[in-house]
Amino acid sequence: MLPDLIHTPRLSLRPPKTGDAEIALKRWAGDPEVAKYTSWMPHTEAATIQVFLDGLAKERKEGSCYAYMICRRGETEPIGMIEANPEQGFKAMLGYVLMRSEWGKGYMTEALTKITDLLFEVPTMRRVFAFCDVENPASAAVMRKAGMTDEGILRKYFIHPNLGQEPRDVLMLAKIR
Ligand SMILES: CC(C)(COP(=O)(O)OP(=O)(O)OC[C@H]1O[C@@H](n2cnc3c(N)ncnc32)[C@H](O)[C@@H]1OP(=O)(O)O)[C@@H](O)C(=O)NCCC(=O)NCCS
Repeated sequence: MLPDLIHTPRLSLRPPKTGDAEIALKRWAGDPEVAKYTSWMPHTEAATIQVFLDGLAKERKEGSCYAYMICRRGETEPIGMIEANPEQGFKAMLGYVLMRSEWGKGYMTEALTKITDLLFEVPTMRRVFAFCDVENPASAAVMRKAGMTDEGILRKYFIHPNLGQEPRDVLMLAKIR
């Protein structure tokens, strides 16, 4: 559904490879501030990240998840990740994360816009969507800048474990065709 290599003006997106786990741990996966509104707790060991990355390779083969390491053009070490999870041939959910020192430079808008465009090159694609915690305005802003529109608040929808075990309200945004 999506190619292995994707380029934007400033970024190259590629599948995870050996050695990425250590860099991910150092750059974002161990950072509590990055993890705050995600589905995972900050990592402490590269080995557990490697298990996650290995699982993604399997999911790519199956076509259930297309995960990319985000690199600045000309660099090989990633600064974040983005993934697209196609469902039922007509919709796809996106997720993304970026190391803290790179926030606010427009990188995720660039990556999200490109992935969304490529997904809509699939003739059957009708809906590209993502959701974020109601208290994560940067994420909602990125989605809007990538062309998604607000669909509303899903109440008590998702547990963000870094904020506690109580399910939280999220904002749902989507671009449709
Ligand atoms: C969310 C995240 C991916 C954004 O990536 P990014 O590359 O910094 O995003 P961009 O620079 O493309 O755009 C960020 C936008 O959010 C806006 N923004 C940032 N903080 C904000 C805040 N507190 N309130 C409102 N808007 C905010 C910025 O102003 C910018 O919009 P602008 O260009 O119109 O000014 C990054 O902050 C991140 O990785 N956060 C931690 C992981 C995470 O939350 N992932 C999403 C889970 S749903």
